[in-house]
Amino acid sequence: MAPNNRNMRPPKGAKIPGQKIDFVAVKRLLGYMKNYKLTLGIVAVCIILSSLTNVASSIFLQILIDDYILPTLGRPNPVIQGLSKLILTMCGIFAVGIISGYLYNRLMAVTSQKVLKEIRDEMFEKMQKLPIRYFDTNTHGDIMSHYTNDADTLRQMLSQSLPQVFSSVITIVSILTTMLVTSWLLTVVVIVFVILMLMVTGKVAGNSGKYFIRQQNSLGDLNGYIEEMINGQKVIKVFCHEEKAKEEFDRKNEELCENARKANAFANSLMPLMHNMGYLLYVILAIFGGVIAVTTGGVTLGAIASFLNLSRGFMQPISQVSQQMNMVIMALAGAKRIFDLMDEQPETDNGYVGLVSAKIDGDKITECNEHTGKWAWKHPHGDGTITYTPMKGEVVFDGVDFGYVQGKTVLHDIHLTAHPGQKIAFVGATGAGKTTITNLINRFYDIDDGKIRYDGININKIHKSDLRHSLGIVLQDVNLFTGTIMENIRYGKLDATDEEVIAASKLANADDFIRMLPDGYNTMISGDGGQISQGQKQLISIARAAVADPPVMILDEATSSIDTRTESIVQAGMDSLMKGRTVFVIAHRLSTVQNSDVIVVLEHGKIIEQGTHNQLIAQKGKYYQLHTGAFELD
Ligand SMILES: Nc1ncnc2c1ncn2[C@@H]1O[C@H](COP(=O)(O)OP(=O)(O)OP(=O)(O)O)[C@@H](O)[C@H]1O
Ligand SMILES: [Mg+2]
Repeated sequence: MAPNNRNMRPPKGAKIPGQKIDFVAVKRLLGYMKNYKLTLGIVAVCIILSSLTNVASSIFLQILIDDYILPTLGRPNPVIQGLSKLILTMCGIFAVGIISGYLYNRLMAVTSQKVLKEIRDEMFEKMQKLPIRYFDTNTHGDIMSHYTNDADTLRQMLSQSLPQVFSSVITIVSILTTMLVTSWLLTVVVIVFVILMLMVTGKVAGNSGKYFIRQQNSLGDLNGYIEEMINGQKVIKVFCHEEKAKEEFDRKNEELCENARKANAFANSLMPLMHNMGYLLYVILAIFGGVIAVTTGGVTLGAIASFLNLSRGFMQPISQVSQQMNMVIMALAGAKRIFDLMDEQPETDNGYVGLVSAKIDGDKITECNEHTGKWAWKHPHGDGTITYTPMKGEVVFDGVDFGYVQGKTVLHDIHLTAHPGQKIAFVGATGAGKTTITNLINRFYDIDDGKIRYDGININKIHKSDLRHSLGIVLQDVNLFTGTIMENIRYGKLDATDEEVIAASKLANADDFIRMLPDGYNTMISGDGGQISQGQKQLISIARAAVADPPVMILDEATSSIDTRTESIVQAGMDSLMKGRTVFVIAHRLSTVQNSDVIVVLEHGKIIEQGTHNQLIAQKGKYYQLHTGAFELD
């Protein structure tokens, strides 16, 4: 892990879409809303009701002034008949407004959480189906940000922005209608003013939508960096890179701050501007209204009062819509990133041959559910018949070529036969292609040319999950999950009993050290096993592979961190476990591989020698040189 390798990625801001609504993303989001039609219908009704009550307050003011206050002005005994009824009606209307406002906010909060849950579920399910290649080319921080930042802005949009935009639009339309009915002349004044105002604010707002998206990207970048720095704490300390890491963090933090500042400049400078412009409109309307009332008598005092009120109610939703639109654009950009993940090409599996537990009696093979320690390949044929062939564990590479990236071949023309029960060892310098060969057997990657056959069956025809079930794999990088040691070993076979787990640990020689731990098998492992040693982690991962009792084992440098004495005990345990089964071992220590049936020497992705220890020594080639110390492995 190089703390700075993030710098090598293209800058995240490079592909910033313009301030446009992504309608494809909108359509897909609507797809998720389909299940909540009834709720959304209720929400729409509530939003309309709560917006209309806003308008009703202005009409109420007009009626109050024109019908009750003005006629009683100057009279000794004001008539307030009917006033209490009007006030009661208004109270009722406001109550409806408050209740519906509460209801739609609550319903949307719940619905958006449900939609988000669905999206997260789908994202995770999809992630499990993605090929290893995807994780090679995307940093973990980036993938994580889909679940955190992107999902959160989406939730905010669904629960807040969308209802607000809808409510604002309804308010604008209803206020405009009321204004037109009250006085078209004053309405024209308001409209001209609003158009002028939008032109001014458009200048202030500038490209803030673009910065909202940049803000989101910088946030993802910063989070990814923090995650990498947490993982790499030891490396940072060893190389005294604290200052450098902080400088880089400051740079990224500054970038986020700058983008956030620009994005929010809109909200920060526009709100006071709009507010003050609202007062200006107030004054203009009062003067205009007064002039019209005096000269033509076209408007009543109540109408002017209600108009002043309406104009204030009009400005607010307009500024809200423009502000929320940025949020919507930002959230849709996040939704697009989420959908891009969902649209990634999943791992293909065209396999139809399955692996089943079997009873083998002479030539007769019958499928059975219980564990017999014997397996058979189940071939369904085009004519509906099914044939079974015993699983033996023969693996043949026939002219295999492979490269991780197109045009850069890593393995060249690999020919290799592992007979059932044989122990095949790969030796070769770092980067020679040892791990790569094993990555092809379990189909982490698909080959470019040639064939790999497993008991005579092309591995492309075998169900991936069955293929991987048949292999016990100890990977080069040991990965432990949060949970007890018992649970971590049981990961190899979920229905294994405690006794089976302990037996497997004994085989892997892990039992001794596990019992020395304060809580034994119940010791909690967290954060990828930071509290136990590297060698102990390897022993646990060997036990995890052993508990599955697989017909074929692949051990990638499984014993590299284990002392030689323990290693020979593990080897003995493994050898007894592997009796009659095929094992592939990759080891840096030649002592580990001497007793192998076939030793394969790799150099730059090519097999340069293969044979038994004695044959290769007699050949006096590379292996001989390695063995006699004339050459070091790396
Ligand atoms: N995920 C990957 N993407 C691209 N290239 C890769 C990837 N993994 C390995 N390579 C390249 O493939 C070549 C073979 O790598 P491989 O991991 O098989 O080596 P190895 O023999 O297992 O080495 P080591 O002894 O260090 O484990 C190397 O040149 C490496 O750079
Ligand atoms: Mg390797």
